[in-house]
Amino acid sequence: MLKETLINATEAGAKVMQHYFNSKNLLISNKEGINNLVTEADHASEKAIFDTIKEQFPNHYIMSEEAGEIIMDSEYKWIIDPIDGTVNYAHGIPICCVSIGLEHNGTMLMGAVLNPFIKEYYFAEKGNGATLNGEPIHVSIESDIKKSCLVTGFPYTYINLPNGPLEAFSRFIRAGIPVRRLGSAAMDLCWVAAGRFDGFYEHKLQAWDSAAGFLIVEEAGGKVTDFEGNPYSPYQPHIAATNGKIHDDMLKWVNDKA
Ligand code: IPD
Ligand code: CA
Ligand code: CA
Repeated sequence: MLKETLINATEAGAKVMQHYFNSKNLLISNKEGINNLVTEADHASEKAIFDTIKEQFPNHYIMSEEAGEIIMDSEYKWIIDPIDGTVNYAHGIPICCVSIGLEHNGTMLMGAVLNPFIKEYYFAEKGNGATLNGEPIHVSIESDIKKSCLVTGFPYTYINLPNGPLEAFSRFIRAGIPVRRLGSAAMDLCWVAAGRFDGFYEHKLQAWDSAAGFLIVEEAGGKVTDFEGNPYSPYQPHIAATNGKIHDDMLKWVNDKA
């Protein structure tokens, strides 16, 4: 029932995304920071997801980007990004998705990411591997960071630190290592899981950006940590997700220790 509800909720959100996509009258407003957008589609997707989950599990804890937290005394916690890649979505760029992770007693149990525009549905269950549209997926086998294709993202508000996102990006680019920037952390993670990217790093994510995607990478055979190499928690900002083989090297470059 948990898996079925996760799938139904993800599909309900994705249906809403499709409904509003490229709508000329899409209501868009700004959150904190510049171009930190939220659209009526984000709220409608979130509502469709909530309705689906609450119908089956009215007593489960829910954490969601736009609505915040519905705190419940429950072993289960649903961590929801109703649209990951909202800026892309608002510009009609089909790199965006619904992302939902389900935690059980603090451990991520399942994750689902659905991009309805390119028709890619990623799913993982702890210990059972990861799939794309029902077919098993695996991370890449590249072991040379210099031959790797990486992806990153940037927060809405510039991080003015000596070794911030732009500094790390600049190091890779100056060395000729390709680093893409898609604008959806959940898609970034799924594309590492599918072996398209060899690694992903980002300096400031929220739990809903990565909850599903990090489990999908791990279940596809990859490695996910913070920037110190500690086991990953979605409740801290840093993420490094790779095929495992380039992990230590990527961290050295990100931390300016290469
Ligand atoms: C954003 C995307 C983006 C990442 C940002 C996130 P949103 O999520 O995942 O790729 O760089 O840090 O906030 O706002 O589109 O849900
Ligand atoms: Ca997000
Ligand atoms: Ca979002």
